[in-house]
Amino acid sequence: MIKSSELRSKYLEFFQSKGHKLIPSASLIPENDSSVLFTTAGMHPLVPYLLGEQHPNGKRLCSVQKCIRTGDIDDVGDSWHLSFFEMLGNWSLGDYFKEEAISMSFEFLTKVIGIPIERLSVTCFAGDSDAPRDEDAASIWERLGMPRSRIHFLGKSDNWWGPAGETGPCGPDTEMFYHSKDIQESSTEEFSKLSSHGGPFCEIWNDVLMQYNKGADGKFSELAQKNVDTGMGLERTAAVLNGSDNVYECDSISPILDKVILISNSGTDRNDRNARIVTDHLRAAVMILGDDSKVVPSNVDQGYVLRRFIRRAITHARSLGINRRFCTDIAKVVVEVMGAQYPELVRNSERIFAELDIEEDKFSVALVNGIRLLERMLDSIKKSGSKRLDAKSAFDLFQSFGFPLEITIDMCKERGFEVDSDGFNVLMKEHQDLSRKGAEQKFKGGLADHSEETTKLHTATHLLNEALRRVVDPTIHQMGSNITAERLRFDFNYNSKLTDEQVSKIEEWVNMVINQHADVSFETMSVEEAKRLGAQGVFDDRYEERVKVYTIAKGETVFSREICGGPHVKNTGELVRFRITKQEPVAAGVRRIKAVVG
Ligand code: ALA
Repeated sequence: MIKSSELRSKYLEFFQSKGHKLIPSASLIPENDSSVLFTTAGMHPLVPYLLGEQHPNGKRLCSVQKCIRTGDIDDVGDSWHLSFFEMLGNWSLGDYFKEEAISMSFEFLTKVIGIPIERLSVTCFAGDSDAPRDEDAASIWERLGMPRSRIHFLGKSDNWWGPAGETGPCGPDTEMFYHSKDIQESSTEEFSKLSSHGGPFCEIWNDVLMQYNKGADGKFSELAQKNVDTGMGLERTAAVLNGSDNVYECDSISPILDKVILISNSGTDRNDRNARIVTDHLRAAVMILGDDSKVVPSNVDQGYVLRRFIRRAITHARSLGINRRFCTDIAKVVVEVMGAQYPELVRNSERIFAELDIEEDKFSVALVNGIRLLERMLDSIKKSGSKRLDAKSAFDLFQSFGFPLEITIDMCKERGFEVDSDGFNVLMKEHQDLSRKGAEQKFKGGLADHSEETTKLHTATHLLNEALRRVVDPTIHQMGSNITAERLRFDFNYNSKLTDEQVSKIEEWVNMVINQHADVSFETMSVEEAKRLGAQGVFDDRYEERVKVYTIAKGETVFSREICGGPHVKNTGELVRFRITKQEPVAAGVRRIKAVVG
């Protein structure tokens, strides 16, 4: 049995011996790249360097990167697709290209981890108007000993990788597949079948020949430097090396599945799709919750994806007969299994368990109410003589109660109804397009939106500003502020890192004001008057003669008073809860805090 830890070391040692410098796994939430919600590949933190910036560690790098992919969520439960996985990667930043990349991949696969060449097939790019057919890659494979009959040419949807978001570096790729069955030859058509949707051919590694940049106009231009970006799936490779025909038997997953089976109805099989989904989704949820970026379940962006993982896991667990609070039991196993490689999980374990409990309790209530609503919907449909739940109702269940489509379908089936899935998918796509547009706008413009989220964060900013003075130093004042729908960012004058104790005290004070349900109100007055009242403000010549002063108070007790244009909530109770997610230096004597509410 090869362990995940051995495979990680073998990979990194091999590439280090070939002149690559090891870089650490980046956060699951990409920093300074708002084009994607999650890190989906090892190349994310390297985008600036793939585009030509000098990397401090040189031109050859390697890493193990934690990744989340939600695009494959419908395939999860099959043999090979996971929502969270670890990617082993090596990069050439304008250094070696096809010949060396493919030769090193071949050497690692066949010599270091000893996969017989008969068990491998590869694919190369078939060519189109953006880039030519990759005969070079195919001849390199052939020279290394791969028979032509196992080299397949496929189009862009298979053999082109990237960009990770809308724009950025990308290129044709060459992919390596392991055959879990002894199949020597197959036509390209057969190969496509065998390698899709959990078939016996499993893609284990991808070498991207990253030589293009996709611009905002959708056009591909040649990059100044030719890069190599590779990614090997750790769980898949560990599984196939151990002779398994699915990823759930790899040592970083199987103890989690064991636990799910232990608490399920007796007789639940290891191949049970529900059990696999619960395993996969809770593993992903724990990895997100355990990341130092401190994402929590919510209705926006990463928090929304996290919520979906948890809620989907709970509904699938119900089908296994698990009717009690259970997420934390599974999460403990995830922390045990993954904690050695990702110590942040151990560090953040209390928070992981607490957030899972909160979300599980919330959803248990939603589940009961959602089922009640569904029953009512089905009753009235029945009366009208139909046996089909319309798309809008299914979508309402999704939006209001977090019911994934397949859960609605299952519940309808039990009652002899079908669901307009196509219609649901159309609504879902519209919803996603809208969210995406929202996200794009947010990322383009910084602020300028007056949504409920940003309004709450405006008020939270005032409270944070005040808390810093009360807890840390009375001379602190605002030096910059930026608010998006997901977080506030606040810059202030201070010289050193806040201690953990100071951070907790600040959070405590803000949450105290939130819990007091204090009123937020404003008055218009002259700048002089505002000063007299002790209102916070920049007091330079940017103010007009009369200004709005927002006061946060409960009865006679004033918590904060600040000159500001708004918008603000009416009552601090609307903020629910305040949390600091990050602090960092920005310039000499200036520090930055990021925080969230909800
Ligand atoms: N970035 C490439 C992938 O994710 C290696 O497949």
